[in-house]
Amino acid sequence: MIATISDLDYRRQSAPVAARFDRIKQRPHVLDVVGLHKRFDASHGQVVALQDINFCVHRREFLCVIGQSGCGKSTLIRILAGLETPTEGQVLVDGKPVNGPGRDRGMVFQGYTLFPWLTVKQNVMFGPQMAGKSSSSAESEARQWISLVGLEKFENNYPHQLSGGMKQRVAIARALANEPRILLMDEPFGALDAQTRAQMQNYLLQIWKNIDITILFITHDLDEAIYLADRILVLDARPGRVKEIIEVPVPRPRGMEQFIEPEFLATKQRMQELIHPHSQHKDTHLPILRMTHAGDDVE
Ligand SMILES: Nc1ncnc2c1ncn2[C@@H]1O[C@H](COP(=O)(O)OP(=O)(O)O)[C@@H](O)[C@H]1O
Ligand SMILES: [Mg+2]
Repeated sequence: MIATISDLDYRRQSAPVAARFDRIKQRPHVLDVVGLHKRFDASHGQVVALQDINFCVHRREFLCVIGQSGCGKSTLIRILAGLETPTEGQVLVDGKPVNGPGRDRGMVFQGYTLFPWLTVKQNVMFGPQMAGKSSSSAESEARQWISLVGLEKFENNYPHQLSGGMKQRVAIARALANEPRILLMDEPFGALDAQTRAQMQNYLLQIWKNIDITILFITHDLDEAIYLADRILVLDARPGRVKEIIEVPVPRPRGMEQFIEPEFLATKQRMQELIHPHSQHKDTHLPILRMTHAGDDVE
């Protein structure tokens, strides 16, 4: 008998996947988010962006955060980065409270944030130099990070000479050069075309495998979240609340062929239910308004 997707439970894990989660759970927490609330006082009244957010991320875990636009994803990551203060609650990195930006948290955003007047190598050296390293040690470290992201041949190029995907690889190298405990990524591949995006996902998985780094990655792309994550935190919109934290049952190493595997599809279906619970009932048709200058030849 052929199993259909509705027969499948995204919570059912094969033995290797379950064993991996057991190992992850035994590792120490790099990040703890405790009772986080964020309220904005906007001109039209108060906006509750985040409400009672609680979760942890284990060492070398890959956590994706997903949710509709406006559900508080960027607010959450900005609080984790120390760029925004919570109304209530606490963020701990390695058990220590966060009170502002710090080198223990690296950030990669969607927009390219490289210094345009510096070369690839100078961009990557910048952090270590600011931390007081000599030029020569900052340079040799920068070379290692640049080779980790596969851009040795471009170390003397300027950002405008690179493609979008290459710029994001430099941004990753630059964030990693500060040797953060956790990499915070806010829709980092959102501006890339589909093919480059898929390539970047694979690069990121390789980088993650090769170094001791914990990743919190925000996306609104379901496939991207399932492909990358160990666990996926699904945020509800208005107010932003944790709806569910899903343990992804898809085994590693991951490959594009898994996009049609039953575990992948069952997880995707669950996320669709969580994010768009009523979408099947919604009328998605536009009202029929005929403009006076419309011709008759278009059906
Ligand atoms: N500085 C701000 N002032 C007022 N409201 C804000 C501010 N930043 C974000 N918000 C509101 O908080 C909610 C969450 O925004 P955001 O975190 O950017 O969502 P997402 O990244 O998931 O799209 C939205 O309703 C947004 O309008
Ligand atoms: Mg956002």
